[in-house]
Amino acid sequence: MKYLYIGLFVISFANASVVDDYLNSLKKEVQSQNPTFEGFDYKRGEEIFTSKHIGKKGKEISCVSCHTANLNQTGENFFTGKKIEPLSPKANPKRFTKVKTIEKWLRRNFNDVYKREGTAKEKGDVITYIINK
Ligand code: HEC
Repeated sequence: MKYLYIGLFVISFANASVVDDYLNSLKKEVQSQNPTFEGFDYKRGEEIFTSKHIGKKGKEISCVSCHTANLNQTGENFFTGKKIEPLSPKANPKRFTKVKTIEKWLRRNFNDVYKREGTAKEKGDVITYIINK
């Protein structure tokens, strides 16, 4: 049992560092254009995640439309009805473990909702919201 706990600690520690490193690189990107930038913000992230927009397919949509407002819960794709595993790393330890996956889905999902890619600031804000909610 002792080893199991140590193992879980190592895994969760490793995951935390992937997302922390990614957030740090986004922060540097924002600061390169805005030297007074202080850091990502949960409240701005919440607004990005919950506000509705006319999306790529001409329908009013938000991140909540597919991921639900409860990030510990299984979501459902607004268009296809397919199940989506919980987005919160607290409920789903596979989340935010690979930068490639995070970037691929943020690019796609910002396009779904905002019809453009997210900026470094928006991505940092929305991740800060998701991992702390
Ligand atoms: C049309 C449905 C849909 C919308 C709208 C949507 N997502 Fe997603 N999202 C998905 C699907 C499908 C996946 C990938 C399947 C999976 O990982 O379970 C995903 C995966 C992700 C991931 C990957 C996390 C990881 O490490 O596994 C992030 C982050 C994410 N979405 C954030 C967002 C944000 C932020 C928004 C709003 C700008 C958003 N999503 C809107 C369907 C959606």
